[in-house]
Amino acid sequence: MDTIVVQGGTRLVGSIGVEGAKNAVLPIIAASLLTGDEVKLTNVPALEDVRTMMGLVECIGAKTRLDRGLLYIKADQLSPSEIPSSLATKIRYSIHLTGALLPRLGKVRLPLPGGCVIGNRRIDLHLRALTLLGARVRIMKGCLVAEAKKLNGADIHLRFPSIGATENIMIAACLAHGTTTIRNAAKEPEIVDLAKFINSMGGHIDGAGSDTITIYGVDKLVGSCHTVIPDRIEAGTYMVATAITNGDVIIRGARPNHLDSVIEKLRCAGVMINKTEEGLRVTPTDEFRPLKIVTEVYPGFPTDMQPIITPLLSLARGQSTIKETIFDSRFTHVAGLTAMGADIRVGRRSATITGVCGLTGAEVVATDIRGGAALVIAGLVATGQTTISNIYEIDRGYERMDAKLTSVGARIARTG
Ligand code: EPZ
Repeated sequence: MDTIVVQGGTRLVGSIGVEGAKNAVLPIIAASLLTGDEVKLTNVPALEDVRTMMGLVECIGAKTRLDRGLLYIKADQLSPSEIPSSLATKIRYSIHLTGALLPRLGKVRLPLPGGCVIGNRRIDLHLRALTLLGARVRIMKGCLVAEAKKLNGADIHLRFPSIGATENIMIAACLAHGTTTIRNAAKEPEIVDLAKFINSMGGHIDGAGSDTITIYGVDKLVGSCHTVIPDRIEAGTYMVATAITNGDVIIRGARPNHLDSVIEKLRCAGVMINKTEEGLRVTPTDEFRPLKIVTEVYPGFPTDMQPIITPLLSLARGQSTIKETIFDSRFTHVAGLTAMGADIRVGRRSATITGVCGLTGAEVVATDIRGGAALVIAGLVATGQTTISNIYEIDRGYERMDAKLTSVGARIARTG
């Protein structure tokens, strides 16, 4: 099984490019099925989750080709064939195929989704919304079965601004008869990017990025060319990796306005961050202050950055606290960090981190995408060698993380 081996102790110096956003491109791939014309996506990251999503759409007859960041998708001949659970259970966003295939095929049978094991990943908001749009939805033998001759616009209030549910509704409603309103909608940049893509295909979506999104149903969508926004979580990951090594790195392509809450928190911890024409530059910081972190929906501090900032807080001078308000069990990375000498106490949805003088290399396991990234970051600064296994989880969400870190001076290698 592949592992990543890190020799701690080198400063990161240089520049790292940010790829297209995983959490933008996955729903966009699903939305590409809404037309039989060819769709061309640029700035597509070479990730395991992207390859999984491509495999899923190919199972139902779409043709895909990914070549150096360019992804072509043509879904002119779709067939309601069995979607293998081996693929559907690998990622959360297989569920977006429901919203995309109902308008095209009128019926979809989909194994229930998988994804990062970070707590209870319910889908009740998706099911309720599809029902309100006029679909007959059932869970049968571990599969989601949905049918609808035609979807009709509806007024949908989300009890929680779920990103996935907001996206699934946008995808399902854009070819529905009539108008759909999503109230208490998610406001993340990835939602805005999806709306921009659908509108470029001839859709009509207003209000993306606000808490009320209106989707005016149209008769047909056509092919389009779209550039995926940069990945704000990848950018944040390399910002923390630079800071923890007292490094000096330009994160090329990062969008500062997508990272306001992350920049603010890192600056509170003492990290030096400057906005440059190329993106963001993190410069040497030799001491970190403790923080109080509460994860929130956008534009608050993102839950995906919570595991990633934890190793840095483990070395802060004092006690930090984290309150995880989005997921009910997102501390599985703490076991590995504790094995490396971090002092972290975990509650039901909270963690208390007491700063220590240093971390020590150990053999650890990546439990999910962001947890795996946190272990790499800890390894960069730990004394000695850290071996991280189950790095498939890291490759799900980061393109060539080991190569990128090597390019700025890290002693890191992939084995196996
Ligand atoms: C997206 O997951 C992201 N995944 C996650 O990133 C991210 O952590 C999450 O949003 C929150 O920001 C992708 O975009 C592919 P949600 P999603 O629906 O859509 C509850 C990463 O590391 N909920 O906003 O699944 C749910 O249980 C991944 O890149 C319901 O109760 O997030 C959770 O507690 C990890 N019922 C909360 O809402 C539902 O029907 C947030 O879920 C749906 C969600």
